[in-house]
Amino acid sequence: MVSQGDNKVQDLTAGELAAMLHFYADAGVDCVLEDAPVDRFEQSAAAKAVLTQQQPRGRAPQSVQQVERRQPAAAQGAPPPPQPVQTQATVPDETAISDARETARSAETVAALREALSSFNGCNLRFGARNTVFADGNPEANIMFIGEAPGRDEDRQGLPFVGRAGQLLDKMLTAIGLDRTGCYITNMIPWRPPGNRSPTPLEIELCRPFIERHVELVNPKVVVLLGNVSTKALLGTTRGILSLRGTWSQYHPNSDMSIPALPTLHPAYLLRNPAQKKLSWQDFLSVRDHLDRASAGSEP
Ligand code: URA
Repeated sequence: MVSQGDNKVQDLTAGELAAMLHFYADAGVDCVLEDAPVDRFEQSAAAKAVLTQQQPRGRAPQSVQQVERRQPAAAQGAPPPPQPVQTQATVPDETAISDARETARSAETVAALREALSSFNGCNLRFGARNTVFADGNPEANIMFIGEAPGRDEDRQGLPFVGRAGQLLDKMLTAIGLDRTGCYITNMIPWRPPGNRSPTPLEIELCRPFIERHVELVNPKVVVLLGNVSTKALLGTTRGILSLRGTWSQYHPNSDMSIPALPTLHPAYLLRNPAQKKLSWQDFLSVRDHLDRASAGSEP
């Protein structure tokens, strides 16, 4: 059991427990990776004790870590360490990327792609995530939104944009006469990166074949790229979102397809910078206009 100073957790009051959980959440510890807590202080003290007893004269001292690694937990007087959650983590490399391409390409429908992604083990991110967050909304819709990656709420619920940023996105959709029945929402990365860190370039490359196939299969009339990650990855640019937002370009999920794409600010950025909402409003009006012209037949 985790201890707080001299107190065991079971001795804490509800208020103290709540304060401790807030402390963990503020420090970024917001999910449980193992079934039982590990008291590293206890393990370390036991390892030190073993080291003191075993140290023969004249031999180079070993580090506590060396002893911790060598000693079975029972010999250290500590409970056995819990089994790691993941069993198949892999290092992303060219083979994994071509495997991802093959897996994505073989999916003939959106449902098959969801299935294929759920059983794809080539990306380490999936092993720290609770859910594969595939998409929400209507795959028949004319418009597809592509964000970055699930956060904590999305990981819990298995749906994209359901946390605070998602609630803001819903309001922005309503403002241009859309809701989740009239659009399709997904992310560049389907698994939550630990602690909401940015996905690495290799993780992006591993997930790219899936989002490309996803767009191919949905074949929307318009793609809206929410934030830097999906914009840079899918438009193949190093320019930042603040300079690209509001400018239409074409996204090519394959060499035969070309879909009008509009980069705009990520709703999570707008939560941190509410003064920038006026820029997003301009972008969303441009999206509305584009959809209206497309349905009137005056937009390619
Ligand atoms: N941010 C994203 O980019 N995607 C989500 O699904 C939620 C937050």
